[in-house]
Amino acid sequence: MKKGKHFILIRNPLNILPSFDKVVPPSFFELGIAELVSIYSELCELGSPPPVIDADDLQRDPEAVLSGLCEDLGIPYQPQMLQWEAGPKDFDGIWAPWWYRSVHKSTGFSMPRRYPLTFPFALYDLLEQSLPFYNVLKRHVSKTIGSPQPTLPDPPLPVPENKKILVWVGDELLPRDSAKVSVFDSVVQGGDAVWEGLRIYDGKVFKLDEHLDRLFDSAKAMAFSNVPSRDWIKDAIFRTLNANGMFNNAHIRLTLTRGKKVTSGMSPAFNLYGCTLIVLAEWKPPVYDNSHGIKLVTATTRRNSPNSIDSKIHHNNLINNILAKIEGNLAQAEDAIMLDKDGFVSETNATNIFMVKKGIVLTPHAEYCLPGITRATVSLIRFQLENYQQSQSKKLDTSIGMTWKRIY
Ligand SMILES: Cc1ncc(COP(=O)(O)O)c(C=O)c1O
Repeated sequence: MKKGKHFILIRNPLNILPSFDKVVPPSFFELGIAELVSIYSELCELGSPPPVIDADDLQRDPEAVLSGLCEDLGIPYQPQMLQWEAGPKDFDGIWAPWWYRSVHKSTGFSMPRRYPLTFPFALYDLLEQSLPFYNVLKRHVSKTIGSPQPTLPDPPLPVPENKKILVWVGDELLPRDSAKVSVFDSVVQGGDAVWEGLRIYDGKVFKLDEHLDRLFDSAKAMAFSNVPSRDWIKDAIFRTLNANGMFNNAHIRLTLTRGKKVTSGMSPAFNLYGCTLIVLAEWKPPVYDNSHGIKLVTATTRRNSPNSIDSKIHHNNLINNILAKIEGNLAQAEDAIMLDKDGFVSETNATNIFMVKKGIVLTPHAEYCLPGITRATVSLIRFQLENYQQSQSKKLDTSIGMTWKRIY
């Protein structure tokens, strides 16, 4: 392994299996795809990850793929690599009579099939077993060469440490790129989920029980069934934080979907698998600049009325807020203020809003806005301060009082 220059050629088992099956019934062992992963892994351990090319890309654009490969391997590219003479070669392996029939007829690369062959469904389990191995290698294929729709290179992450995190999906912890929900999940089909955003400070999850109260309230308001217990959700949160070693400066996006459906369709009667829990914990510094403040713009998009999608439910139907955020982006503001249907200030697209006027803290009634936990905490501090003032002096200093009024 240490000698020579290596590269790995992969092909999607979805395409291998139907043609393999025409010669002999395939087995996982004979596909050799697990061996390819272990060879890749061994070369990585030796400090020289091999270039990986995909057969589909090679057929589609042989010149680009081969010249890129030669560059990666440090060998000269030659245009003769694109053509050969028909017929058997003396360096063919002993397996050639079974596998090289069409290769021997060819004199160059031909375009891959536009549409796949109908899959032999007797091999469905084998496909499921081999695809993850193919996908592990596929991730290492150079993205710019030969793909039908050139994909963008991986963008830099705001916090690079988040590239390698473990995410809880359903009932397990998965690496970032494998952390996915089913296309049958309600959150994919209808944004049918509820969520919470939680911060971790000094080894503690800020107001965890209050967030879980609201998560359960939202799930109840949306008539979810088979909701996991509070203890089970807490356990998933703590397992995720422990596994990631996140005890400070972290943020959790906690999502509870109505779960997978037995078939596509709106009715929750199709949701027979129970809810799906996602605990997405990331390293995240505070989002807003607390020392200089932020610029806001008033959006034309209004908060949802309790008559339609009640803004008091913390649901995943976020289009309303996203449209307002787009308006904020266009105005080069950090966020947007959203009004209710009558034009009263409601909240920003992402947070509750407060105003201090003549020493009095004002905030909108939670009619068209989320009954925020930060909002409730500010209210609690107000009561504590008032009580403190009362115990210190008979005369209450109203400058620290707070009234819960609408902001006009
Ligand atoms: C629209 C909206 N308002 C307010 C909040 C703030 O809520 P909390 O203080 O409970 O985190 C959020 C947070 O998710 C939100 O999305």
